[in-house]
Amino acid sequence: MNIDKILTEMSLEEKASLCSGEGFWHTKAIDRLDIQRIMLSDGPHGLRKVNEERDCTTDESIKAVCFPTASALACSFDRDLLEKLGQALGDECQAEGVAVLLGPGANIKRSPLCGRNFEYFSEDPYLSTEMASAYIKGVQSRGVGTSLKHFAVNNQEHRRMSTSAEVDERTLREIYLASFEGAVKNAKPWMIMCSYNRINGVHASENPKLLTDILRDEWGYKGLVVSDWGAVDNRVNGIKAGLDLEMPSSIGKNDKYIIEAVKQGRLDIKDVDRCVRRILELLVKYENVKTDIVWDKEKDHNLASDIESECMVLLKNEDNILPLDKNKKIAFIGKFAESPRYQGGGSSHINSYKVTSALEAVKNICKVTYAEGYHTDDDINDERLISDAVKSARDCDIAVLFVGLPDSFESEGYDRSHLRLPECQLELIKRVVEVNKNVVIVLHNGSAVEMPFADDIKGILEAYLGGQAVGQAEVDILFGKKNPCGKLAETFPRKLCDNPSYLNFPGEGDKVCYQEGIFVGYRYYDKKEIEPLFPFGYGLSYTTFEYKDIEVSKREINDDEELIVTVTVKNTGKVTGKEIVQLYVNDEQSSVIRPIKELKGFKKVTLNPGEEKRLALKLNKRSFAYYNTDISDWYVEQGKYNILVGASSRDIRLKSSVYVSPTNRIRTKYTLNSTVGDIMSTDIGKALFKDFMSEISNTEAMEENSEQMEMELEMFNELPLRAMVSFIDKKNLTREKLSQLVERINTTLDSDLD
Ligand code: BGC
Repeated sequence: MNIDKILTEMSLEEKASLCSGEGFWHTKAIDRLDIQRIMLSDGPHGLRKVNEERDCTTDESIKAVCFPTASALACSFDRDLLEKLGQALGDECQAEGVAVLLGPGANIKRSPLCGRNFEYFSEDPYLSTEMASAYIKGVQSRGVGTSLKHFAVNNQEHRRMSTSAEVDERTLREIYLASFEGAVKNAKPWMIMCSYNRINGVHASENPKLLTDILRDEWGYKGLVVSDWGAVDNRVNGIKAGLDLEMPSSIGKNDKYIIEAVKQGRLDIKDVDRCVRRILELLVKYENVKTDIVWDKEKDHNLASDIESECMVLLKNEDNILPLDKNKKIAFIGKFAESPRYQGGGSSHINSYKVTSALEAVKNICKVTYAEGYHTDDDINDERLISDAVKSARDCDIAVLFVGLPDSFESEGYDRSHLRLPECQLELIKRVVEVNKNVVIVLHNGSAVEMPFADDIKGILEAYLGGQAVGQAEVDILFGKKNPCGKLAETFPRKLCDNPSYLNFPGEGDKVCYQEGIFVGYRYYDKKEIEPLFPFGYGLSYTTFEYKDIEVSKREINDDEELIVTVTVKNTGKVTGKEIVQLYVNDEQSSVIRPIKELKGFKKVTLNPGEEKRLALKLNKRSFAYYNTDISDWYVEQGKYNILVGASSRDIRLKSSVYVSPTNRIRTKYTLNSTVGDIMSTDIGKALFKDFMSEISNTEAMEENSEQMEMELEMFNELPLRAMVSFIDKKNLTREKLSQLVERINTTLDSDLD
């Protein structure tokens, strides 16, 4: 396809029409110019290819494989695994003629209440971006595009199409945009889907700062931007801002506005051409790599189980109650054992071709008794079901309770109002624990839940929404065929009100203020010294690991150099296991407010009993930087940074440090309104100021009494220089003399920088 030629041959009407889709799932075809249509489908954790001839309800999508959702996937901390998943999904798309898979979702979990958290990876931008990158690389390696979504700051479902997320610039950059930035730069998604909401008052779909200045000019993005389905408010403004494709079809209504605006000179035809070009470029990309393959559902079902077993997080294992001994009398209790909740509601809902429950999978291992325990379609205690469950629990050695959030509790489209499990399940847990002390809980939920029962339960296994093969993975872990290795990609608070966004979620009217700023997730719990129920990065194994011998490649670096951190990890237990080694960075002393630590690296390693391996983790400028709003750029302050390596954000095992210097040092220009403290913050300023003070005082007296001078300086820290004239009774201390001092300090500091 010769895009330049086509652009010259297209009429304005044809160009305008190409800027929106046909129906729900296709771009437009223009037969006259031999432009074919392509199909887009949800995503992210399976293929929801909707029957093309009918509307878009779940039942009408093709039978496919439902993989674990993003909230589970991120707990694997496993780039290779996500890439493998992406490859499988890419193959499915190729086989079904789908050109772009609508995912992954890289929004940050600001509050555990967000109804769509199951579709998002983490509360941490680095983990989120690493997971998204691997997924994108996997899918796209098969010649199928991805659509990274929802760009940006879409962290709640409440009024998601109208609310404005009010976020300060530094928070935007360090948290909410950072979760997209790495994926855009490293994995180059073919598409990016803008979000529904407004950001600081401007709709994402017509936001030039977001869609052009940051995405394209700063991050170098070359692909296409699509609207979330129905996110367009003013199409003409959207075209100007960089929104290339509107989905779904506007049934010609917006074409009219585009044509009018061009004719009346309100919209430059070049802006329309730019959108058309990007759409054509996407068609070319897909045409060039289209293949005819068939996909094997059974193979992908097994892959879904393997993936889930890498994602589940063992939260508690008192008295080594797990793995289960198949020779003991075991009861499976709870509806989710028979009919698990394994995916969330909304646009990502997969029409699974089969589901493996734990009750079915366990048949290959041993006999268990089963009691339903509760209903999922209402939250009413059913005494008959509870009594059966209690009897079952009393008669067994170990009771495994399968509980979690039913479909109605969390979904795209609305948020949760609390973090509790259904009352009927809480009652069931209470009654079972009364008759049996050996209880294991397996949780099915898309996001954090409160666990008032945690102290009474010996084993807790978090399965999240584990995909259609979740039951197989659960049985593999419960009976020790596989060793759990997932770690939490989000903090589980003890209670909802501990969460940093609690006072400002979901906002008032059409405004939600992100008052907690950069203190999202563990960044907040750390700083406030709040003990979470389970911290970010936490997860147990059936074996144990020792961390030792941390080394950094250099003791001092400039911020344009890489630092390599090496550590040894040893399996000190009796079974093979995988450990997720996490690296956090702490800025020991900073002039800006910073989190206590931030995740900047991780690696997953497999170790046999007694085996040890040396791991290398790389850090670069971004690992040490904060977003400096004065210079509108990332900046590394000179100083000591602690390198913390551990098994979770609250289990740091090794510590080292490095001294980092910025290559682009920024210098404040001092004025008479700079405080004494500001002036004294550099060695040069300090020396010149002290000389000055000695000069205006009686030199000898000051030397004799230098302790007094230190005290006075300390007291003057907050005093602007100009105010010294009023507070220090010295005839020769004048505004002119102070101006000369400021001048001297500024020139000396400048020459020191050169
Ligand atoms: C969702 C998107 C989804 C799209 C198409 C929207 O409502 O927010 O994530 O890809 O629908 O189904």
